[in-house]
Amino acid sequence: MKIEPAAALRGHIAVPGDKSISHRAVLLGAIGDGETTVRGFGRSRDTEATIAAVRALGVSVHDEDVDALRIEGVGLRGLREPVGPIDCGNSGTTLRLLAGILAGQQGRFELTGDDSLRRRPVDRIAVPLAQMGARVESAEDRPPLAIEGGELRGIRYELPVASAQVKSCVLLAGLFAAGRTTVVEPLPTRDHTERMLEAAGVRVARQQRRVSVGPAESLRLGEVQVPGDFSAAAPFIVAATLLPGSELTIHDVGLNPRRTGLLDVLARMGARITVFNRHSSGGEPVGDIEVRSAELTATAVTASEVPLLVDELPLFALAAACARGESTVWGAEELRVKETDRIETVTNSLRALGVRVTPRDDGFWIRGVPSRPKGGRLASHGDHRIAMLGAVAGLVSRNGVDVENAEAVAVSFPGFFELLDSVTQR
Ligand code: S3P
Repeated sequence: MKIEPAAALRGHIAVPGDKSISHRAVLLGAIGDGETTVRGFGRSRDTEATIAAVRALGVSVHDEDVDALRIEGVGLRGLREPVGPIDCGNSGTTLRLLAGILAGQQGRFELTGDDSLRRRPVDRIAVPLAQMGARVESAEDRPPLAIEGGELRGIRYELPVASAQVKSCVLLAGLFAAGRTTVVEPLPTRDHTERMLEAAGVRVARQQRRVSVGPAESLRLGEVQVPGDFSAAAPFIVAATLLPGSELTIHDVGLNPRRTGLLDVLARMGARITVFNRHSSGGEPVGDIEVRSAELTATAVTASEVPLLVDELPLFALAAACARGESTVWGAEELRVKETDRIETVTNSLRALGVRVTPRDDGFWIRGVPSRPKGGRLASHGDHRIAMLGAVAGLVSRNGVDVENAEAVAVSFPGFFELLDSVTQR
């Protein structure tokens, strides 16, 4: 798909429901007592994989509307052994969170996924689940992952990497374990699981980097209102910042402080972004984001900030490419195990468009020039975040960008190009 250069982004939009929260609502609704209604559900290829997975495990999920679901919970230990393997598609969140729940069920379960997911590590969850007493098998740290659930015991686990998916996996298994389960994170990561467990009636003890749960008797979510996905808003935020004359408002976006690191980073680069209408919904902070264009200066993203904008680092690299001066990202080696090796794919994509970017083991070094990058062809490698990066790069380029395999955006944001087009001024 060819994305032509744009003059500005103008108007008012809303983005789909948060992907992380949508996954969690389906998973917790599935093992809840009674019905859970999810509104503002972010329908995408990834979240559909989670719905299909819980259906395969015997849970009825009813599509009430394009963005509403009704889930008939089967109770904490009510999931049924499926006939064959569960296909998590492209979704790491589905595989890693579901594994924690399956560790506490009776039966044998096999989790697999597409080519990208089958290249991503699973030992990070297999090791703690085995310590808790589950039988977990995989070949060479990659899916398929076989889990035999059973009696679990609580553990204290220090995460070797800052990962909300691994933290969530261990905490979810902890609901089924005897004794307390404590996870200590090297750096704070997104806490949607903790917030939703609390909303479902579970007592979660939390300090900055330490979370613990005890065995649960039942979960009851009732209604979940999913806020707009900050990661889906991010391409619009960066494009509106970079295109002169832009004035864009994005309504009802989730503003969980462990997701909005991009706002802090852009603010110190000189961006003009205002957040208003702050309120809270279902235990998550929400608000409207108004973006006006601005000239940016370079900055360094430090390791402790990385988890707060981990999915936005490709877009940060583009913003840095258009900022005055040299920017660096440190401590982002986790990018190497995302849907693609995003240190490689971001570097190769942006270089092909005329950006001066050098990969580092744990991030990037970017030489910014406050003018439009040339443009050209960008291979998304089937990675939704790289495809969206290509689209924003096309808008802010001189000659446009041809995004290969652009339909990968449907992994998280099926209507992305239509929404972008609706606010683009040529
Ligand atoms: C997610 C956590 C992050 C993020 C992913 C979604 C989640 O992954 O990159 O897109 O929903 O918990 P890690 O936990 O592996 O960092």
